[in-house]
Amino acid sequence: MIAIFLGPPGSGKGTQAARLAGRYGVTHFDMGRSLREEVSTGSGLGKTIKTYTDKGELVPLPIIKMIILKALKGAFEKNVILDGFPRSSEQAVLLDTVLNEFGVNLDYVLYFNIDERELVNRIVNRRHCPVCKRVYNLVYAPPIQEGICDVDGSELAQRKDDSEKVIMNRFRVYQRETQPILERYRGAGKLREVNAAQEIGTLELEVAGVLGLK
Ligand code: AP5
Repeated sequence: MIAIFLGPPGSGKGTQAARLAGRYGVTHFDMGRSLREEVSTGSGLGKTIKTYTDKGELVPLPIIKMIILKALKGAFEKNVILDGFPRSSEQAVLLDTVLNEFGVNLDYVLYFNIDERELVNRIVNRRHCPVCKRVYNLVYAPPIQEGICDVDGSELAQRKDDSEKVIMNRFRVYQRETQPILERYRGAGKLREVNAAQEIGTLELEVAGVLGLK
């Protein structure tokens, strides 16, 4: 099974993909995280990526292509969720080419439907563990001990692009670049929609059901 998770920033794509990876052994490819990992190495490539992610702009296609080809090599032996890719028409074309080369088909595009007014609150309250990468929310999914990761005791951190100013630009970029590709997948009969405003566990059951995971 190959699925794309599509939806506005903060709609819960990463949270759900991580839960399904834990419960069903699905491979979770998270483009945003791959980009942040490259930034954290301090490489020249990482510095270039940072100039885009800090502003909430899309990273240029040649870089995305390089990352996706490396990440997906051998990945299709298992069920795969693509989280944060594709995000534009040109990336959707790139994905078609890649899937074709690997001789596999896209099964589902899951659209996380939610009113964007709900999302700023979610995003400004997001925290993550820099070590194990687990994502928390100070309001909706808090750690047991304030500021500390439940899994490994590390101090929680906040993403640089989770400031209100950058969030507003990420929404604009989403509407301009990503939303139009929903129609492409609707037309191809691949699009499924979930109500992303539901509580995390309830949404997980719905997502797993739509993807036919058992
Ligand atoms: P990326 O990291 O992909 O950010 P995003 O798409 O903006 O998505 P988010 O990670 O903000 O949201 P999410 O939907 O995963 O929500 P989450 O589950 O964390 O990309 C960052 C940047 O990298 C981009 O701006 C761009 O610059 C670059 N980039 C990435 N992909 C690219 C590409 N393909 N091409 C070019 N550039 C690219 O949840 C959010 C919060 O809400 C958490 O705190 C969580 O605990 C909480 N939460 C989750 N679900 C619920 C729920 N049901 N109820 C209540 N709270 C919830």
